[in-house]
Amino acid sequence: MLKKTRIAVMVSGGGTNLQAIIDAQKSGIITSGEITLVVSNKPGAYALERAASNGIDTYIMDTEEALIEKLREEGIQLVVLAGFLKILSPTFIKAFENRIINIHPSLIPSFCGKGAYGLHVHEMALEYGVKVTGATVHFVNEIPDGGAIIYQKAVEILDGDTPEVLQKRVMEEAEWILLPRAVEEISAKIGRGEI
Ligand code: GRF
Repeated sequence: MLKKTRIAVMVSGGGTNLQAIIDAQKSGIITSGEITLVVSNKPGAYALERAASNGIDTYIMDTEEALIEKLREEGIQLVVLAGFLKILSPTFIKAFENRIINIHPSLIPSFCGKGAYGLHVHEMALEYGVKVTGATVHFVNEIPDGGAIIYQKAVEILDGDTPEVLQKRVMEEAEWILLPRAVEEISAKIGRGEI
């Protein structure tokens, strides 16, 4: 049997996407990879509690240099950005080229790029008046939200939606399904030496 791909999940907030990956490991949707580290740039992030209560090591990010060293020490092969709100430098991205994926709560190339994060993304979609939005999992390169797309899923916008209501629907109907799926697919490819 192939060894499981060692995954670090990077978070800044509540960590519902992290939870979706943890749940997918437990239910057998993810079999090719294993979260071995959760990294946060915010010491108080609730996501860290989710990691701890599932027996996963945590690490608070200080400098990028120190983080790169830590990820190497831990033998991390795949970095998953799951609500990580800090832009990573080209040096970091180069250090893990084709090994970083991100979940974004819109259908890229709509409502993405610099400043399009968290609730803002849903505010932008509502303000524009689009009738369909969704989520995208993509590789991370030096262009914010600009790397190759792995998966996308559309979600309907309904009359009377607020940014909060829409955010929840996009998470439930798209993010929490797509991200575990992408993590399994990319972990398997890394395991087989295909990427
Ligand atoms: C999600 O909407 C994700 O798409 C975006 O940030 C949010 C993080 O939520 N990048 P959570 O911390 O996973 O609950």
